[in-house]
Amino acid sequence: MPFRPFYVLLLLAAISTSYAIPFPRRSASSSTNASVLILGGGVAGVIAARTLHEQGITNYLIIEARNELGGRLTSHKFGAKDHQYTVEVGANWVQGTETPGGNTNPIWTLANKHNVSTVYSDYFDSMTTYDYTGQMDYLDLFNKSIDAYTMLTDVAGARVARREVDSTSRTGYSLIGSKPQTPQEMAAEYYQFDWEYAQTPEETSWIASSWANNFTFDPSEGGFSDENYLCIDQRGFKTIVQAEASEFLDQHQVLYNATITDIAYSPSGVQVSLADGRVINGQYSIVTFSLGVLQHDDVVFEPTLPDWKVEAIQSMTMATYSKIFFQFPDNFWFDTQFALYADKERGRYPVWQSLDLQGFFEGSGILFVTVTGDFSERIEALPDSQVQLEILSVLRNMFPNVTIPDPIDFYYQRWHSDPLFRGSYSNWPASFFSEHHENLRADIHGRLWFAGEHTSMKWFGFLHGAYFEGLDVATRVADCINGGGCISLQHFNEVKNARSYTVG
Ligand SMILES: Cc1cc2nc3c(=O)[nH]c(=O)nc-3n(C[C@H](O)[C@H](O)[C@H](O)COP(=O)(O)OP(=O)(O)OC[C@H]3O[C@@H](n4cnc5c(N)ncnc54)[C@H](O)[C@@H]3O)c2cc1C
Ligand SMILES: *[C@@H]1O[C@H](CO)[C@@H](O)[C@H](O)[C@H]1NC(C)=O
Ligand SMILES: *[C@@H]1O[C@H](CO)[C@@H](O)[C@H](O)[C@H]1NC(C)=O
Ligand SMILES: *[C@@H]1O[C@H](CO)[C@@H](O)[C@H](O)[C@H]1NC(C)=O
Ligand SMILES: *[C@@H]1O[C@H](CO)[C@@H](O)[C@H](O)[C@H]1NC(C)=O
Ligand SMILES: *[C@@H]1O[C@H](CO)[C@@H](O)[C@H](O)[C@H]1NC(C)=O
Ligand SMILES: *[C@@H]1O[C@H](CO)[C@@H](O)[C@H](O)[C@H]1NC(C)=O
Repeated sequence: MPFRPFYVLLLLAAISTSYAIPFPRRSASSSTNASVLILGGGVAGVIAARTLHEQGITNYLIIEARNELGGRLTSHKFGAKDHQYTVEVGANWVQGTETPGGNTNPIWTLANKHNVSTVYSDYFDSMTTYDYTGQMDYLDLFNKSIDAYTMLTDVAGARVARREVDSTSRTGYSLIGSKPQTPQEMAAEYYQFDWEYAQTPEETSWIASSWANNFTFDPSEGGFSDENYLCIDQRGFKTIVQAEASEFLDQHQVLYNATITDIAYSPSGVQVSLADGRVINGQYSIVTFSLGVLQHDDVVFEPTLPDWKVEAIQSMTMATYSKIFFQFPDNFWFDTQFALYADKERGRYPVWQSLDLQGFFEGSGILFVTVTGDFSERIEALPDSQVQLEILSVLRNMFPNVTIPDPIDFYYQRWHSDPLFRGSYSNWPASFFSEHHENLRADIHGRLWFAGEHTSMKWFGFLHGAYFEGLDVATRVADCINGGGCISLQHFNEVKNARSYTVG
């Protein structure tokens, strides 16, 4: 399906010029350690490796800082010693599964292939609602927020048909007459919106978020299905890539515990330096680090990336989604899969999930709450003890008649502060143009390629976005090698639409 351009604009498509850059700093070695260096072993990296393998290219090397494959598919052993469960602190759902005669989410295919246990997650019909006074039934408002979100995506589509400019999702909500005023209305809106995009409607593109929703959840728009399945496999959700990799990956094709500090690139190849001083040469490289890592300069490029690439990297947003886990001695809470808590402050400990349910981890005593965006960054800067106290006081609001016991275990992952991630997944702001997005994906010299959830126009943020990008970019690199030359992706030297205030 072609991606329809965002704006009615005059675009100057200045196609790549040549860079006369000598091979930087270190003297180039004519020997290469591998033909393709795959930088990062998450979903995009592993699927890129599998794609090269399928194209008959085995001379590649995955270089990964952690001691296992999976990236943001990160599991954590949680709970008292004799009462431990594997919980997912990163990606947890297969989002959109399959529709007969339609498209299938490749993450769903991998989960089924490797017998990874998942359970149907009932987003809309298994909800208990609370506010700061205790249990409070506002399912009518909750239902309204579902309808408002559907209308938001519909009207975005109508704007595209009329070639109207993008705006924020807040503008969109206002234009369709949805203006949450009360804490309950705000919590309901949060659940439909922030809980998915990890940022507020103010911070998010109306059109891009609507497309991302449709391309994943709406079969009539090419999406997979509207179902979400939660992984509860005790091997961890990462099994989908680890088991897949074990079918084709040799030990010598991956370096673990290998943190990359520098990437030197030129028209003739790539040279990667590791924190431990090792230097590795390649003919091509596929950079799969998160958008946050690229934004934060955790890895230094030599020479510095061209302005069009830097502008693209800095103009997309890396959002944060944090799940905060509790194990309690007893289950004192709701018997639905989800609960919504309306605080007077929007986004303060709003979405709750019980894992102590039949079909999940019954008898586990595990409950978790999710926060996103600025609130995530706030709690990352606080000590665990303070966050725990805040949440226990929220639980006292929700359950005024229960003496809330001390938790047995407590954990949350600090994604935003982690130099290997710098956030959880990307989000598309209203100021980001589709040309920026092409620039985010575009290669440099046919040697330095970029792949990951953030380079996916249709599925940014999702596991399946990372999958499709690993597949597409590695196919292009394989063509470079097997086809005897590279066809670079288009990029725009400048993204234009400014107009003078005084000249028509
Ligand atoms: C909390 C959370 C919840 C999520 N929930 C879902 C969900 O339910 N469903 C869904 O579809 N998606 C979800 N996502 C998004 C999904 O996890 C990502 O889209 C996907 O995993 C990204 O894969 P990737 O290969 O692009 O990047 P990554 O998984 O980030 O892979 C990049 C790899 O590069 C490595 N790396 C980074 N820096 C260096 C360095 N300097 N040197 C060497 N290696 C380095 C990292 O360790 C990592 O392994 C969630 C993400 C998070 C964090
Ligand atoms: C890469 O190849 C160079 C030159 O042959 C060698 O010195 C270096 O040790 C190799 N690096 C690794 C990590 O194998
Ligand atoms: C990576 O480091 C961990 C300890 O941090 C160690 O247990 C593991 O064996 C190492 N893996 C490799 C392949 O070196
Ligand atoms: C798949 O998983 C289920 C439960 O997790 C298990 O009972 C079954 O034996 C597994 N099947 C295979 C083929 O591994
Ligand atoms: C909300 O919608 C569901 C159907 O999706 C319906 O069963 C339920 O009665 C509705 N609740 C309220 C309070 O409107
Ligand atoms: C999303 O899908 C709906 C149909 O379900 C459609 O009306 C709308 O135009 C689509 N939105 C976009 C942005 O394409
Ligand atoms: C909580 O206790 C108060 C006072 O004893 C009582 O009025 C109320 O019904 C109780 N609420 C629940 C949910 O049990």
